[in-house]
Amino acid sequence: MSDQTFYVTTPIYYVNDAPHIGHGYTTVMGDIITRWHRQRGEDVWYLTGTDEHGQKVLRKAEANGVSPQEWVDRLVEEEWKPLLKTIDVANDDFIRTTEQRHLEGSQAFWQDLHQRDAVYKGSFSGWYSVGSEEFVSDDDVADGEGDDEGFKVSTLDGSRVEHMTEENYFFRLSDYQQKLLDFYEANPTFIQPESARNEVISFVSRGLKDLSISRSTFDWGIAVPWDDKHVMYVWVEALLNYVTAIGYGSDPERFEKIWPANIHIVGKDIARFHAVIWPAMLMAAGQPVPHQVFAHGWLLVGGQKMSKSKANGIRPDEIVDTFGSDAYRYYFARALTFGSDGSISWEDISARYHAELANGFGNLASRVAAMIGKYFDGTLPAPGARTDAETVVIDTVAEAVRDADAAIEAVAPQDALTAIWRIVDGLNGYITEQAPWKVAKEDPDGDRLATILHTTAEGLRVLAVLLNPVMPKASAVLWDSLGAEAALGALADQRIDAVAAWDQLPAGSTITKPASLFPRIETAAG
Ligand code: MSP
Repeated sequence: MSDQTFYVTTPIYYVNDAPHIGHGYTTVMGDIITRWHRQRGEDVWYLTGTDEHGQKVLRKAEANGVSPQEWVDRLVEEEWKPLLKTIDVANDDFIRTTEQRHLEGSQAFWQDLHQRDAVYKGSFSGWYSVGSEEFVSDDDVADGEGDDEGFKVSTLDGSRVEHMTEENYFFRLSDYQQKLLDFYEANPTFIQPESARNEVISFVSRGLKDLSISRSTFDWGIAVPWDDKHVMYVWVEALLNYVTAIGYGSDPERFEKIWPANIHIVGKDIARFHAVIWPAMLMAAGQPVPHQVFAHGWLLVGGQKMSKSKANGIRPDEIVDTFGSDAYRYYFARALTFGSDGSISWEDISARYHAELANGFGNLASRVAAMIGKYFDGTLPAPGARTDAETVVIDTVAEAVRDADAAIEAVAPQDALTAIWRIVDGLNGYITEQAPWKVAKEDPDGDRLATILHTTAEGLRVLAVLLNPVMPKASAVLWDSLGAEAALGALADQRIDAVAAWDQLPAGSTITKPASLFPRIETAAG
């Protein structure tokens, strides 16, 4: 297993519209987790991308009077790829489902399913929601109300449904009910958190019907390899991105090194596709299934799921333009419990920005550098003998590193940040108690002042490393201000498991006052 890659994916996003912060949320959380694993020294692969076929995108292009290909090309280049820069994401690859590699890989996978007799031709008659690109059973359809008066809607998510009758290919999903239940039982962490796991198990326990997996009334999709009157059902095609992006059907060696995925990060709305249909398809094709599907909750704005169609969609750059990408990343990781729904608000972002980032962390970094500048001309002094107060700091740091690492392992970035903030608070408390400005007056020639400032500089070194996955820009500025690169090398090469070892910054390092990491921001909300 050791030469296996730690492979993490986001869902691939529909390009019917521009991204909002719900999409940015998933991608940032995956980025924090993968950056952390890279700093553990693991071989990491982080994939994101766009889901470009299907009726939802097709209709949007038609409504805008352009071909679907023109529509997706424009949105991907102007909106979806730039998003990654806006929120500072270090993905290793970006897959578009209109790429040739995806077309070929998907067809190879289908061919394989066909040869293994996992698909058959039949006729479908039932409800379909273009909004969620999903077949909806009769039991889940109701009469619409209000704006939807006169239409039928899905009770699952309120989207409108249409009745369709088509010749389709079907996947023998019903064969997998017991196999999936056995699999969930044998792999209790396959679908997390527990709420999502319970939901999936109860869904599968109620019985699985064979799944219609092709469409024959439009052609914006990938042709079924043995029957080009059909295109693949967009969900079944989209799930395949996770394997087509890493060489399925074209580069078996690479595929084997990276597959199976360690974590598919998804919103809870699409957990079922990933935890039911996807593993069944893989089982049918004789491929290993992913280690974990992690379903996070929804961002709520004014108590409602945020979405473009409800007109409460916020663009990521609205927040980044004001607070910066680091604060954006920090906020979503810190303020919400990954796996549960959470409310967000401009007031809360602003309050946390000022209390935790500007006053808590940024101020600490600039005070320490300013004092080393003032009392030691910006040269890190050698520490003298340790007292109990230093031992407490060192122990706090060691424990926080352990806890933060365990939290990331458990896919709980909010807990990792809580642990890391014990260092921030601990150092601020240590400075207040030790009052170096008093020591400088009362005992200017002793080595106590040097010990205190060396200890705080060491604490900042640890913070720069631990916060690098969450706030790469501020961490780089801090690393630079500590003069750490000269003695310790690049920030990205610092290993989490070695960070707590003390006294790494050598005496004599040049400490400079960093540019304000988190300047105060005057916003309407304060
Ligand atoms: N194209 C499919 C996924 C295919 S994956 C093989 C799809 N795309 S989507 O554009 O609708 O967005 C999917 C993801 O966006 C959700 O699973 C979730 O990760 C994220 N979110 C969209 N709205 C969100 C919120 N309001 N809150 C949190 N995440 C949200 O479904």
